[in-house]
Amino acid sequence: MSAHVVHTAADLRAVEGRPRAVVMTMGALHDGHAELIREARRRVGPDGAVIVTVFVNPTQFAAGEDFDAYPRTLESDFAVASEAGADVVFAPTAVEVYGESGGFGEQSVTIDPGPLADILEGAARPGHFRGVLTVVAKLLGMTAPQSALFGEKDYQQLTLVRRMVDDLSMPVEVIGVPTVREPDGLALSSRNRYLSADERQVAAVIPRALDAAAARMTPQDAIASGLEVLATEPSIELDYLVVTDPQLGPAPLEGQARILIAARVGTTRLLDNRPARMRP
Ligand code: PAF
Repeated sequence: MSAHVVHTAADLRAVEGRPRAVVMTMGALHDGHAELIREARRRVGPDGAVIVTVFVNPTQFAAGEDFDAYPRTLESDFAVASEAGADVVFAPTAVEVYGESGGFGEQSVTIDPGPLADILEGAARPGHFRGVLTVVAKLLGMTAPQSALFGEKDYQQLTLVRRMVDDLSMPVEVIGVPTVREPDGLALSSRNRYLSADERQVAAVIPRALDAAAARMTPQDAIASGLEVLATEPSIELDYLVVTDPQLGPAPLEGQARILIAARVGTTRLLDNRPARMRP
């Protein structure tokens, strides 16, 4: 099946009236995105419409981050999206999304992501989740889907999108899809393409550290085991390795938990996480 590309919200009218699922991306599509699109297709069925948005959102990047360098690969994104079962690739301009300012104007209404946005990624990237949630709310408004699929790789983002949808009673089902990994466990990410061959080898320590952590029974032991594995690659710069509950609250002593990591390999910041079970 071949998708078609549209650049304006008005052009999305072509899929109105069909059950719709949206997969939001910033492009540079890889097999993790393809899995989201395939899952969206499974959910809406052959008569439904799968919309993939491709928009490098300026408001979620701080000055000095990789907004300009972020890969823009619309042609190959279109091929990946079509192959995975998308009907429409919606690639708006910043003016289409934000109006003439192309970003937050002085008087813009934005989404306040609340205190969960001040920890972990939010602590490292102040303002990031205000930009993410505002664009997600806008893209939900423009695409009006019944379901929206997000990868678990960006676990804090997924958690905050779920909260926004619940707290603001938005009429959409948010579906989290498990992370797709390379054979050595590295989570697929558009930013992996920044890694040199040596850095790529080093990066594989991240999922190994998560696995070692998840094999332990208490949050303290989990962190200690994860750090031990990370220490085998001294060039990696750890930002955080934490155990939380599944909603990113304090680590539970018993039951379902999430282990999250952010680390810099060379100049590339990589994120990963996995579920775990704590036992007394
Ligand atoms: O995960 C991403 O690629 C982005 O944060 C998203 C959800 C498309 C919003 O710009």
